[in-house]
Amino acid sequence: MTDLLEQLRAAVGDAHVLTDPEDVAAYVVDWTGVHTGRALAVVRPGSTDEVAAVVRACRGARAPIVPQGGNTGLVGGGVPDGSGSQVVLSLGRMRTVRAVDPVAGTVTVDAGVVLADVQAAAEAAGRLFPMSLGSEGSCTIGGNLATNAGGTAVLRYGMTRELVLGLEVVLPDGRVWDGLRGLRKDNTGYDLTQLFVGSEGTLGVITGAVLRLFPATPRHATAWVAVPDVAAAVALLAVAQERAGAHLTTFEIANRQALDLVLAHLPGAVDPLDEPSDWYVLVELAATEADHGLDDTLEAVLGEAVETGLATDAAIAGSRAQRSALWSLREGISEVQKVEGATLKHDVTLPIADLAAWTDAMGPRLQQILPGVRPVTYGHVGDGNLHYNLNAPVGRDDDLRAAAAQLSTAIYDAVAAADGSISAEHGLGRTKAAAAASYKSDVEVDLMWAVKRALDPEGLMSPGVLVPD
Ligand code: FAD
Ligand code: MLT
Ligand code: ZN
Repeated sequence: MTDLLEQLRAAVGDAHVLTDPEDVAAYVVDWTGVHTGRALAVVRPGSTDEVAAVVRACRGARAPIVPQGGNTGLVGGGVPDGSGSQVVLSLGRMRTVRAVDPVAGTVTVDAGVVLADVQAAAEAAGRLFPMSLGSEGSCTIGGNLATNAGGTAVLRYGMTRELVLGLEVVLPDGRVWDGLRGLRKDNTGYDLTQLFVGSEGTLGVITGAVLRLFPATPRHATAWVAVPDVAAAVALLAVAQERAGAHLTTFEIANRQALDLVLAHLPGAVDPLDEPSDWYVLVELAATEADHGLDDTLEAVLGEAVETGLATDAAIAGSRAQRSALWSLREGISEVQKVEGATLKHDVTLPIADLAAWTDAMGPRLQQILPGVRPVTYGHVGDGNLHYNLNAPVGRDDDLRAAAAQLSTAIYDAVAAADGSISAEHGLGRTKAAAAASYKSDVEVDLMWAVKRALDPEGLMSPGVLVPD
């Protein structure tokens, strides 16, 4: 292994090969704190050629590689296992916005560029890069592509896979595939770009991407709406879609338990409504500068909702500051759940028509398994995607950990029975690889392995992630 470390140092420079436990610490534990591994080394290449040299050196030594971007992933895919034999390949130094073309509507970036910096580059060119996640100040485009991230604007703009036109990838054998094309139309065979989207570091290292830009939408109309239940939230979605059409950008849900945690732990958070409600939705419409009338549309949606009993009250943002205060109630939930204590995350999608019945049935079922367990339910209800996360009964984190497998199995069985998915947007990583395989048909698992073996025959890219060992 000394040979490998020497080769890595020669490839990227001494300063960018980390082996000291203190330097390595932040790279081997994930955001949730659930996955802690050990690394042979953390390597920080500064260019695509350096990534290729690192991959070739690791291949020669048969050392597995785990690519890492901002390390905000929620399923443990970006951290090494406990063997101490894996090399973490961090894209953190590859942060160049290579080109912006407002007319073609494209931005070309290094994979290590932070999502918020892509948004800023688009804005500086008078355009919009619409992907929006609570982690956008730290997560990277490479990580977003590798997980096919979703977020709060999917309803209007789609998942990451709908926002990418071309990729540059270092393959497991060290060759570079230059697919950095910004074409909207390209039917010249298998779609290799899409193959790498959502591959979670198991097929190669994404080093660059051409992403889509959209017209800027500086006008917003935003409301925090109290709704009696999930069924009302889903019915309100239909009203908003009908009245607001393409302007409807965000339609997020949160239960009272989620809001209570935000109010308890997020400094400055204030309940914008007088009376508590069991459920809330955050609705946002967005439009270009030339588009007027958003406020009227939102008021019409909310008026109809209150008249028909779909909503009981609403707070409409009257300023930028109020808009960001409403958003912080939603975006703060992940962070405050961690502050509250042990958390069990479930990122599920269901057919939208089944969301209400599924949620109503799940609560009592979980109480039977662990009385007092607290579902902190929120997420992208407009996409059928719930973060059906659980906090422990107050002061009993160990009980949640002890019941975790039984609780998750009950949730996943109910998701499978409703023809849903056990990973809507976070991917499978190490947390869910085995569970996902158990719900897939043999044919589907065989196809996944066929792809994996074709691209990574030696199994050196993120072993144990996405496809179980
Ligand atoms: P990492 O965590 O570093 O890695 C994630 C996976 O991608 C790993 O498997 C890793 O090996 C692989 N990978 C990373 N970079 C590359 C690369 N260049 N080439 C190949 N593989 C690579 N996710 C959502 O979808 N929607 C949300 O709304 C959302 N909100 C979040 C809010 C918070 C507060 C947090 C902490 C996370 C949230 N996430 C959300 C999850 C996370 O931010 C996303 O999964 C994000 O896409 C991960 O990006 P990253 O750069 O941090 O990737
Ligand atoms: C979010 O939408 O806030 C995250 O994807 C959910 C999570 O942290 O579980
Ligand atoms: Zn989410």
